[in-house]
Amino acid sequence: MSPLPPASVRVRAPGKINVFLEVGDVQDDGYHELATAFQAVSLYEEIVATPADDITMQVSARGPVDIDGVPTDDRNLAVRAARLLAQTAGVDRGVHLAVRKAVPVAGGMGGGSADAAAALVACDALWGLGMPTGELARLAARLGADVPFALLGGTAVGTGRGDELSPALARGRFDWVLVPNERGMSTPVVYGELDAHRERHAVDIGPAPRDPAVDPDVLHALRQGDARMLAATLRNDLQAPALHLRPELARVLERGESSGALAGIVSGSGPTLAFLAADESAALDLQITLSAAGLVALHVHGPVSGARVV
Ligand code: C5P
Repeated sequence: MSPLPPASVRVRAPGKINVFLEVGDVQDDGYHELATAFQAVSLYEEIVATPADDITMQVSARGPVDIDGVPTDDRNLAVRAARLLAQTAGVDRGVHLAVRKAVPVAGGMGGGSADAAAALVACDALWGLGMPTGELARLAARLGADVPFALLGGTAVGTGRGDELSPALARGRFDWVLVPNERGMSTPVVYGELDAHRERHAVDIGPAPRDPAVDPDVLHALRQGDARMLAATLRNDLQAPALHLRPELARVLERGESSGALAGIVSGSGPTLAFLAADESAALDLQITLSAAGLVALHVHGPVSGARVV
C-alpha cells in the first residue's frame, strides 16, 4: 500500500542579493547575457500547500510588504510553477498554495522567483512525486532566470541568463541591512534603461562587455568570509539605470554608507538597497540608525539554504 499523501506541506524559500552583476548584450530572446554572484539571505517566502481540486492560491504579507497588485491567477509564478510540474509529471491533482510574502514585491530580491521555487518543492512533496533535483532545476529555469537559484540557495555563480549555476564557496556569514522601497520597479524596464544608457553614452562608456564574468576578487572575498574585501568588490551594472529611474535612492545609499555600512548596493534590478555590515553587531547598529531616520530597515544574513520543506 502506498503511503498516504501529507495533509499539507510547508516550504520556505529565500530572497537573494546579487553581490556582483555584470550585464552583457541583449540576445535574440530578449534576455541579456550576464554573470552574477548570488547570495541567498534570511528573508523567506513561505508557502503552505494543501490538496485541492484545482490549482489556486492566496497571498498574505509577513512584515512590511505591500502585496497590493500581486496577481493570484495564472500570471503568478507560483501558480505557473504548480501547473508546469503537474503537466510534466502527468498529475491530475490540484493544490491550494497559501503564500506568505516577506520578500519585497518587485524589489530586486527575487521574491516571485522564490515563490515559484517554493511551489515546485511543495507540490513535489504534496503529490509524492520525488522528482530528482536536476529535473526540478530544469523546470525552474523555464519559469524565470532567478528561479533555479531560489531552489539551490547558498552562494552561487550564475551565467547565461543567470540560470546556469555553479555553487561558490563561502565561509562564515555576511550581515546585511536591507532597505525596501514602497514602490516596486519592473525588471525589464531597468534592463531597457541600461541598454538606452549604453546607447546614449556609447562614446564614453563603450559597448556592453562581450563575455561577462564574475570578478575573481569577489569569489576570493566570499571564500575568505571577508566582509571588508567583499564590500570593496560589490558591483551591479543595473545600479546606474535603477538610480537614473529613481534618483532619490542615491541619497539613501549615501545615508547607509555614512551610517556605518561597509558599502551599499542596489539589489538586482532594485529598488531594494542592500548594505553590507562588518559583522552582526555593526548590522544591528546600522539597522537602528536607519530605522531612527524613518526608513524600513531589515537585518538579514547569508548564505542560507534554498527552497526547503520545513
Ligand atoms: O526571467 P525573468 O522573468 O525573471 O526576467 C524578467 C525580465 O528581465 C525579462 O523578461 C527580461 O526583460 C529581463 N532580463 C534580461 N536578462 C536577464 C534576465 C532578465 O533582460 N538575464
